[in-house]
Amino acid sequence: VFDQLNSRPADSLLALIKAFQADDRPGKIDLGVGVYRDAMGRTPVMRAVKAAEQFLLETQDSKKYLGPEGDLQFVRLLEPIIFGNSPKFAQRLAGIQTPGGSGALRLGAELIQTANPSAKVLLGTPSWPNHKPIFASARLDVKEYAFVDLTSQQVTFESVVSALSSAREGDVVLLHCCCHNPTGIDFTMEQWREIADLLVAHRLVPFIDLAYQGLGDGLEQDAAPTRMILDAVEEALIAYSCDKNFGLYRERVGALYVVARNADDVRKAESNMAGLARVNWSMPPDHGAAIVKTILESPEMTAIWRTELEEMCRRINGNRAALAAASPELAFVSRQRGLFSNLSMRKETAVALRANHGIYMADSGRMNLAGMQPADAGAIVAALRAEGCL
Ligand code: LMR
Repeated sequence: VFDQLNSRPADSLLALIKAFQADDRPGKIDLGVGVYRDAMGRTPVMRAVKAAEQFLLETQDSKKYLGPEGDLQFVRLLEPIIFGNSPKFAQRLAGIQTPGGSGALRLGAELIQTANPSAKVLLGTPSWPNHKPIFASARLDVKEYAFVDLTSQQVTFESVVSALSSAREGDVVLLHCCCHNPTGIDFTMEQWREIADLLVAHRLVPFIDLAYQGLGDGLEQDAAPTRMILDAVEEALIAYSCDKNFGLYRERVGALYVVARNADDVRKAESNMAGLARVNWSMPPDHGAAIVKTILESPEMTAIWRTELEEMCRRINGNRAALAAASPELAFVSRQRGLFSNLSMRKETAVALRANHGIYMADSGRMNLAGMQPADAGAIVAALRAEGCL
């Protein structure tokens, strides 16, 4: 039977993890996969996470099944961080724990496929390379539109307006509401307001991907576009990831939320989300969610976590400033937010940067600014110049 399979190309982004490890040049710089690095170049377990793990080690007395929805206390404790304390959502929010943000995207895609299989998913490009395959594998039709010009590093807002204006009622619009992956280019609040108006006018459903909250300008600021959009629309999906802001990557910690019109629809959404989880992964892995819950239940651990997250955010923005200061052509990097910026480059150039300079970035020209040190800025700029990127 397996001779019937066609081989798939390896995921080129994830292949960078091994390629970087295998490179023994001392000056190599990893701007590849989206993980945070500290001033020592490590991706440490956060102090709050260590404290929570210690607490769990001492107090957790069972690992019995929780059910397809996972730990609902974890799901509830994230809500004020994401949604604030707006009473508007009382009775309108359904939530389920998922294996990372990818699990939330996949579950949300299947929920749309179940509720409205003819819905199109509008995807502004460039986007995270896994977005399109996730929606397509849930048999949804993905309609891409360019939302940014990488040469000028500017949003092409008229293409956003045109894509949303020509969508049909019930179509789904994937939105990165902070720290855009891969460009770092976020809409202004004014543009978000216009997007919210278009969503309402054309009765479209936002599917918000929130994987980097706290790593742009801080937890509250990064939540502002999400809250503004949810304030305007009647229905929405939110895929949330704790992988980056709690540094829990391989634990796979996330949640899918649905904002519905009324309590009746919430119940329907909840039962479908649980049913879809059951046939996908049956029940989500617990450890990461237990850590997040433990932190958020403890004011002391929460304070430590918030401080660490603020330090991470400051460091990333410091790296952005260092790179911008090293080259006037890269000034835009300091205006962008989150882990990534995306240079306009061909794959051959990204390959040459790895081969000739030991600088690893995605083939698309995406750089993870959290992977560098301020002192690396000169070497990065020199390599980009040598390869004709600047
Ligand atoms: C990234 O974009 O680098 C991360 O989200 C890792 C991944 O799964 O692609």
